[in-house]
Amino acid sequence: MIEKGTCAGFILKNLAATERFGLRIGQLLIPGDILLLTGDLGAGKTTLTQSIARGLMVPEKYYVTSPSFALLHEYPGRYPLYHLDCYRLSGEDDIEAAGLSEYLETRTGVCVIEWAARLGSLTPEQYLEVQLVVLKEDTRQVTIGWHGERWSQRIEAITQTASPIG
Ligand SMILES: Nc1ncnc2c1ncn2[C@@H]1O[C@H](COP(=O)(O)OP(=O)(O)OP(=O)(O)O)[C@@H](O)[C@H]1O
Ligand SMILES: [Mg+2]
Repeated sequence: MIEKGTCAGFILKNLAATERFGLRIGQLLIPGDILLLTGDLGAGKTTLTQSIARGLMVPEKYYVTSPSFALLHEYPGRYPLYHLDCYRLSGEDDIEAAGLSEYLETRTGVCVIEWAARLGSLTPEQYLEVQLVVLKEDTRQVTIGWHGERWSQRIEAITQTASPIG
């Protein structure tokens, strides 16, 4: 059985907190990692990805923007960052037809996927899921789910940078 867990009840009080959280995730990423970002429009998925990119040493000259139209943006970093957005795709068939499924099997780069719930059965076996919920204008609640042993050793280091609620 696959190792998995959920870490709920974290809060990102403001943009700076989201930045620290994303930076830490980016620093810890290794090739083959898949990050699923979920949460409503404006929850902060792209904003978080910008900091993940910095943690992954994507040079500042690359401004990370939403790949809603292009579906995929690629950035050079410690490892290639594939930033996918499934918002405009309706489901598995669409995602395959767009040629995105091969990125989900990357061995050399890391994948960050917005609107990842659309992956359905294409969801890889091992992944880190970050769900963002808007609490206030600049405050986000975070729930982290992880699947697979590739995440179990890193989950503590990742959650250390988000404050527990309360
Ligand atoms: N603590 C915070 N964390 C993340 N974003 C924040 C925070 N506080 C304010 N924001 C703002 O919320 C907005 C989040 O927008 P963003 O484009 O990142 O959302 P998204 O989840 O990618 O939306 P979409 O589903 O449209 O792609 C930005 O304008 C950002 O500056
Ligand atoms: Mg976005």
